[in-house]
Amino acid sequence: MPFSAFFYIVMFMNVLGIETSCDECSVAVVVDGKKILSNIVATQVERHAPWNGVVPEIASRLHVEWIDEVTSRALTEAGVSLADNIDAIAVTFRPGLIGSLLVGLSYAKGLAWSAGKPWVGVDHMMAHLYAPHLEYEIDYPYLGLIVSGGHTILCRVESMEEVTVLGTTIDDACGEAFDKVAKFYNMGYPGGVVLDRLAENGDPTAFRFPEPRLHKGNHRYDVSYSGLKTAAIHQLDQFRSDGAEDSLENIAASFRKAAIDVLVKRVKRAAGDTGINRVVVGGGVSANRYLRKSLTEDESLDSYFPSMALCTDNGAMIAALGYHRLMQGERSGLELNAAARVSGFRRSYP
Ligand code: KG4
Ligand code: ZN
Repeated sequence: MPFSAFFYIVMFMNVLGIETSCDECSVAVVVDGKKILSNIVATQVERHAPWNGVVPEIASRLHVEWIDEVTSRALTEAGVSLADNIDAIAVTFRPGLIGSLLVGLSYAKGLAWSAGKPWVGVDHMMAHLYAPHLEYEIDYPYLGLIVSGGHTILCRVESMEEVTVLGTTIDDACGEAFDKVAKFYNMGYPGGVVLDRLAENGDPTAFRFPEPRLHKGNHRYDVSYSGLKTAAIHQLDQFRSDGAEDSLENIAASFRKAAIDVLVKRVKRAAGDTGINRVVVGGGVSANRYLRKSLTEDESLDSYFPSMALCTDNGAMIAALGYHRLMQGERSGLELNAAARVSGFRRSYP
């Protein structure tokens, strides 16, 4: 049966989504890219905490140990069986930690091949961007802001197939800068989450940090976080001499404000230039309270954020984008390989 004909006779499509790009082992069952029947997220956070960061080898080994159990739980919680009720499989194949990606991808290939199901490899960043589509009907075009531990991308999205990158970070990713500052000040792990929580009780004007923008060249929508990160780290002496317990909160609040304000400015600049005021935000940093508040309270913008559970890595967003791709007639073959990076996406994605 031709692939398209296969889907025309399926009334509802149950997609199994598999995500293992970093330190979350997650599998979900989603109906028609919208209704989440299950979304199991087995986090490895505690296993990486002693190192204050994700250790790639530990991450991939844990995925090997956990993936089958997490998949069984996702199927059981959804009340479905792979053979009878799953119509297709979607899996993250890039970008991420290569060892971790390979576990999910190879597992998905094995499942799809043995069960005779169609499957598709999806891009993790695009899946983050697609996450709010699980909960809202969002019209195109819109401005997409994807902010995670490895990427910071501002793009113009005409459709999920037509994405133009307007700006990126030229050095550290936004989430990475949060993680590094948190690590330096021993705030706790995972860094971005802890820093955000501390910042809620701090004074954002206590420390003056440089705006993380570029002064030279054609970087209208780009950002740079390495200067801000270094400036925050260089406040250590003042921080120590202050001695007050609450100065950790103040560092956190001042850093968070500088790191997020520049993103909001970039979004507003792009909205002014393009006339598009619809904004969709995805990626781990979309959980940031100050980013959510700044964009949603801005009345000139119409902003969409994923609910908190769908901000960080999860299988549901993979299943949802997988559904969309499958409906476009896409499917992958066993030769698909994992890729740690997406090269050359400075002006279009991928
Ligand atoms: O999307 P994600 O789960 O994994 C990647 O694709 O990278 O994003 C993880 C990143 C980490 O850098 C983490 O510190 C950051 O998202 N993050 C946050 C918050 N929650 C997670 N950063 C700032 N504020 C938060 N509330
Ligand atoms: Zn992610």
